[in-house]
Amino acid sequence: MTALVNQQIVLASRPAGEATVDNFRLQTSTVDPDALADGQVLVRIHYLSLDPYMRGRMNEGRSYAQPQPLGEVMIGGTAGEVIASRNPNFAVGDQVVGMGGWQQYQLVERHQRGVLQKVDTTHVPLSAYLGAVGMPGVTAWVGLHTIVEPKAGETVVVSAASGAVGSVVGQLAKARGCRAVGIAGGPEKCAYVTGALGFDACIDYKAHGDLKSLARALKEACPDGIDGYFENVGGVILDAVMLRMNAFGRIAMCGMISGYDGQPIPMANPALILVSRLKVQGFIVSERMDLWPAALKELGGMVASGRLKYRETIAHGLENAPEAFLGLLKGRNFGKQLVKLV
Ligand SMILES: NC(=O)c1ccc[n+]([C@@H]2O[C@H](COP(=O)([O-])OP(=O)(O)OC[C@H]3O[C@@H](n4cnc5c(N)ncnc54)[C@H](OP(=O)(O)O)[C@@H]3O)[C@@H](O)[C@H]2O)c1
Repeated sequence: MTALVNQQIVLASRPAGEATVDNFRLQTSTVDPDALADGQVLVRIHYLSLDPYMRGRMNEGRSYAQPQPLGEVMIGGTAGEVIASRNPNFAVGDQVVGMGGWQQYQLVERHQRGVLQKVDTTHVPLSAYLGAVGMPGVTAWVGLHTIVEPKAGETVVVSAASGAVGSVVGQLAKARGCRAVGIAGGPEKCAYVTGALGFDACIDYKAHGDLKSLARALKEACPDGIDGYFENVGGVILDAVMLRMNAFGRIAMCGMISGYDGQPIPMANPALILVSRLKVQGFIVSERMDLWPAALKELGGMVASGRLKYRETIAHGLENAPEAFLGLLKGRNFGKQLVKLV
């Protein structure tokens, strides 16, 4: 083999407000599969995962994760195939997931132990390891189990319900005997949430322009109130759900995507936390590595048996990753947003 051209997308500048395609830059480097050093593994990336957290990494300043350095390949989860290896733990043809970033090839060094995980694609497609059987699925599992702690007969609500995380939250809640209610943008997404995913109800927040209207819709969809809420969005959606929370309800703060471009999202009535004696807790899935094996076991089994459904939006070609990423922040994705490179 001769040296391969490796297209990469780097962070060119930090957004001021809304992120744009100009914040990214395409560059090329080369990598020679015949010139690997001892212990190195070369992966051809098939799928790149696009995730909302990447928006936070584009900013400078304090957060739970380090900012993405300027001029470096954008961070990101990837799934692909080993095409060259000088590492006894990996053979050519192995299907792997890792954090290869926005590029076509990932070179893994000997000392980067644990960076690549082999996956079995016999019953679970490779791409699902970036979605329902990957980080988003585990996020749903961890937030539900450690914070929402749903009991049979309770009502669990989740926002961004048709998405990678939200779709799993509702299906897991149903599997535990709960009433699952989604909130999503548009009739098509809502029909999918109640149809294919089997939620009991779904509210199209775009059809409810203000807090009152949204709270009324929630009252109808949740006649016994809300016991658990899995928050992915923030803002008026959170305010409306808070109004319907039962005493001693639990809210898992997973994401607040409506504020990722810097929009202020104040909480209208924090006194409800006291009045309704709510537990409100944030979590970061990468800080609960102890729970990943149990979560992946259940999620993998459910996907393999067809009990856990998911949907993907696939952009084609690395050059289209920035546009697809910006679309994800605007709800243009429908299910897990991926970029297919091969
Ligand atoms: N805490 C953690 O460890 C962790 C890990 C992974 C993900 N997350 C969070 O989980 C959430 C979901 O992530 P995901 O990967 O599953 O993404 P996703 O739901 O597949 O895609 C994002 C969705 O968010 C919705 N959205 C975007 N802007 C919105 C707005 N202004 N108002 C209401 N909804 C909006 C859109 O759906 P609609 O069309 O329905 O509006 C969009 O499709 C994100 O907040 C993410 O940051 C947290």
